[in-house]
Amino acid sequence: MDKTGSGTAISLPHFSHDKSPIATLRGKGQKVTAVVPVELIDLHPEMGSLLEEALDGLTKPQKTLPPKLFYDERGSRLFDRITELDEYYPTRTEISIMERHVGEMVARIGAGAVLVEYGSGSSLKTRVLLDHLESPAAYVPIDISREHLLASARRLAAAYPGLRVMPVCADYTSAFEVPEVEALLARPTVFFPGSTIGNFEPVEAADFLRRVARVVGPGGGLLIGVDLKKNAKVLEAAYDDAEGVTAAFNKNVLRRLNDELGADFDLDHFEHRALFNEVQGRIEMHLVSHADQRVHLNGTSIPFRKGETIHTENSYKYTLDQFAHLASATGFAVEEVWTDDQVFFSVQYLVHRSP
Ligand code: TRP
Repeated sequence: MDKTGSGTAISLPHFSHDKSPIATLRGKGQKVTAVVPVELIDLHPEMGSLLEEALDGLTKPQKTLPPKLFYDERGSRLFDRITELDEYYPTRTEISIMERHVGEMVARIGAGAVLVEYGSGSSLKTRVLLDHLESPAAYVPIDISREHLLASARRLAAAYPGLRVMPVCADYTSAFEVPEVEALLARPTVFFPGSTIGNFEPVEAADFLRRVARVVGPGGGLLIGVDLKKNAKVLEAAYDDAEGVTAAFNKNVLRRLNDELGADFDLDHFEHRALFNEVQGRIEMHLVSHADQRVHLNGTSIPFRKGETIHTENSYKYTLDQFAHLASATGFAVEEVWTDDQVFFSVQYLVHRSP
């Protein structure tokens, strides 16, 4: 899978240092873009075969598709719109918690920090931190999408002159070696916002937290956004908005299979569904087949019964207690929890206890 599109080609070799002086060049759409020096560390993550993964998921008894299918250019734009919907409370709640308590957060992180961010989405939340951190040593965003990573790293570098910005292109959902650069050998603080932790299965979430513990080292910190359990109606509305933006986001994966792999999904014969699974404690997103139908993908005929679903994503919700247990099982102690007045969302500061 290549999500990079055909914009300005930026292909930098392993450990390349992009330290060219600030210049301007013509980017896609003739927009003049200031190029700000950032140091890319490219671990060349495997993208996997889209076709293989799609076929694998669609031939299981409960059909699934990999969530990474969501984030092509169109999907990323739809996701940005989701974060602004009335029903989708997580983004604005997390930002308001951060704005309100950023003083306490940066006091925990301390001066001269190396801030490592997993995922480099909208940098709004990062900016709240960087605006208040005392002389941060470096900012290290890690993301699988090279173009997206470089674009947002450059925007941040431009906004914070003097800040060392070192993007790492890697797949943080699987183990990757931490590059041996001095900024990362110093004890970093990890920032993992957006309740992305909830998109992992609990077992994977624990593995992920153990890897983070190794990265920050004993005494090191993790500032993490965790969405909380609440009324199922509020949860379901957040993932099934009245305008249909989340529905379009979910259905976009079928469009991609048609456009990129030549499948013949009829988008009018599938419907978006979000439901809160009380037993598992998670929002599930599905695409429901409206009818008995067959879809073809690379010579394989895939049967659907009316009402059968493709399970596309989970978003686990935690109680504060459940998350504290998960944290302590992975070597962390919860030092401080900040929430909103309705206790819908939490931002938590975890510290890796010395073994
Ligand atoms: N982690 C966020 C959440 O679970 C954002 C997100 C990931 C999301 N995948 C999604 C939001 C799919 C809506 C639909 O809410």
